[in-house]
Amino acid sequence: MYSLVYVSKCLLTPDYAGAGIEAIIEVATARNAATGVTGALLYTGARFAQLLEGEKDAVLAIMASIARDPRHGDIVILDQRAASARRFSHWSLVYGHSTFAAGIVERALAAHGHADEYPLRNLIRLLQELAPSAG
Ligand SMILES: Cc1cc2nc3c(=O)[nH]c(=O)nc-3n(C[C@H](O)[C@H](O)[C@H](O)COP(=O)(O)O)c2cc1C
Repeated sequence: MYSLVYVSKCLLTPDYAGAGIEAIIEVATARNAATGVTGALLYTGARFAQLLEGEKDAVLAIMASIARDPRHGDIVILDQRAASARRFSHWSLVYGHSTFAAGIVERALAAHGHADEYPLRNLIRLLQELAPSAG
């Protein structure tokens, strides 16, 4: 089991973001389900934050597609590591939109490369709260 967290900047135009994100989720949910990947996607109005988990090869293959996707940019991988268990076992991709979450995403990004893991753990906790009744 492998887990990866990244943050990016949304490049969809504001008036198209709703429909654009719906299209992303439709493709993403199907592909994640087909390859045994689960996770969560948060949109703050400016940035995306996503956690992907599954077999390492499957997670990295999807991440390679995501990294090439012109609908976002400035991708920063905040964390990738072997994981003992899934956090989102019931969710191919749980989605949430929260402008209030922007500060948590920015703090996780600002802490990237520093020893303090608290802002990253806080972001992961926020992503987990998108999934009702955990898992
Ligand atoms: C913010 C964002 C999150 C995405 N999340 C996923 C995902 O979880 N799973 C997935 O298969 N594709 C996801 N995609 C779509 C991929 O970038 C890609 O379009 C899709 O996997 C099809 O792959 P391909 O273009 O290599 O054929 C996401 C795209 C964006 C912009």
